[in-house]
Amino acid sequence: MMKDYILEMNHIKKAFADVLVLDDVSLKIKKGSVHALLGENGAGKSTLMKILMGIYKLDSGEILFKNQVFHNSSINIVLEKGISMIYQEINPLSNMKVAENIFLGREPKFKLGILNYKKMYADTQKLFDQLGITQLKPQEIMGNLTVAQMQLVEIVKAVSYHSELIIMDEPTSSLTENECRHLFKIINQLKHEGVSFIFISHKLEEIFEVSDEITILRDGQWIGNYSISELDKNSIIEMMVGRKVRQLYPKVSSLPGEVAIRVEDLSVSNLFQKISFEARYGEIVGFAGLVGAGRSEVMETVFGYRKKTDGKIFVCGKEVKIKSPADAVRQRVAFLTEDRKRTGLFLALSSLDNMFMPSLKKHCSGLFLKYKQMQREYAVFQRQFKIKTASFKQPTAKLSGGNQQKILVSRWLLTEPDIIILDEPTKGIDIGAKSDIYQCIASLAEKGKCIIMISSEMPEILGMSNRIYVMHEGRMTGELSRDKATQENILKMATGLEEELN
Ligand SMILES: Nc1ncnc2c1ncn2[C@@H]1O[C@H](COP(=O)(O)OP(=O)(O)OP(=O)(O)O)[C@@H](O)[C@H]1O
Ligand SMILES: [Mg+2]
Repeated sequence: MMKDYILEMNHIKKAFADVLVLDDVSLKIKKGSVHALLGENGAGKSTLMKILMGIYKLDSGEILFKNQVFHNSSINIVLEKGISMIYQEINPLSNMKVAENIFLGREPKFKLGILNYKKMYADTQKLFDQLGITQLKPQEIMGNLTVAQMQLVEIVKAVSYHSELIIMDEPTSSLTENECRHLFKIINQLKHEGVSFIFISHKLEEIFEVSDEITILRDGQWIGNYSISELDKNSIIEMMVGRKVRQLYPKVSSLPGEVAIRVEDLSVSNLFQKISFEARYGEIVGFAGLVGAGRSEVMETVFGYRKKTDGKIFVCGKEVKIKSPADAVRQRVAFLTEDRKRTGLFLALSSLDNMFMPSLKKHCSGLFLKYKQMQREYAVFQRQFKIKTASFKQPTAKLSGGNQQKILVSRWLLTEPDIIILDEPTKGIDIGAKSDIYQCIASLAEKGKCIIMISSEMPEILGMSNRIYVMHEGRMTGELSRDKATQENILKMATGLEEELN
């Protein structure tokens, strides 16, 4: 029988130092199919893909591409053989133009070796037309692009290499609804042209939408390979986590108390205008909207990262001046930022250092750090959120994306704040850890903390919030109580089609 696999990875093993992260994992991709690779944070998905790309060497196992042993001695060779990867963390080459990035290292040249920009731009435009991409210009500077646009550039690059297999490692974690739609359209188009995809995502809804087959990993082990029609959401979750997740969103039983924070007509020119809201102790207030609505910017201003041009902030009924994050922390406000690499983690430092960074004072006695106590508290969070690290000394750069996020969540909980602002707290986090983080948020609210949560995931907003504010293009377009909120009315407000303000 003819084999119809474009790629076979068989019995792959890989250890970092002494830690086995892939233990006899296999993955077989059919030609012209979208294959989802699923598993919890730290399961080994990105590592498996980096082995395929030749970034990491495998310890044992074999890779066959188009039925032949695949020699992946360098990234360029892999690209030329027809495999491209769009990485979980895109690093933009900021000063380069879009077309230069796409043709990097293979720029069209005149006879004398001078770059032929005209041809490069024209070739790029041709690729855009082919994929129906209208929102990008070949001459645009990479640094000015949104995440979605950068991903499109990467896809265009893959197509320009005539890639037969394209790997996407959490491509949608920062995309809006519409951008996701566009991405899926392009995937489908290329699929019909015979291109195969490996698609990694923690959003199960989209797995059902785009993929034909799935492979599930757990803790570096191969759990199974299925056609998507054989499975439902619950069975996938159960295989991923190894247990049943019954109720994703916990019920918060306490009633909201006094107003903890009130914001009046807050503005930063060009970013957002006249934003007013309040949040009570014991309340979870959701901020819905599309990516780019200005929600993060509002919270960055409340926390003192940005300078307000107008408006007032009250904490416990008293007006406060917050000019820097230190002022905010003094008001017992904590802020979990969305961009963990830029404003969150110190990648070279260990997970323990990262976790205790803002709460070091509390852990000093005289000049000495209470290291033993820190280790004990670290262990509590590690257990609670199932943070997967080789040891607490491991640099956070080496953690999987989701585990980095868990370190940040723990960090802010350690500062014992009263008002906790969470910006996309479960971005890139697997479903099992998500349910742990929701439990934790709910129990904080029950203890009387005031929680403000920005989220672009509709089920999360609806499942967790007592009240929901909706923003659209820098303006507040709605406020809804939990019982009035539905996916439809939030979406209408988030797209500016409808307004409902008290
Ligand atoms: N360069 C490295 N050195 C040491 N350990 C590493 C390195 N890269 C990854 N690991 C470890 O390997 C394991 C698998 O990580 P990987 O990034 O593949 O997970 P993942 O499935 O992609 O998770 P996520 O969903 O969070 O992105 C993790 O425990 C991680 O800490
Ligand atoms: Mg990963």
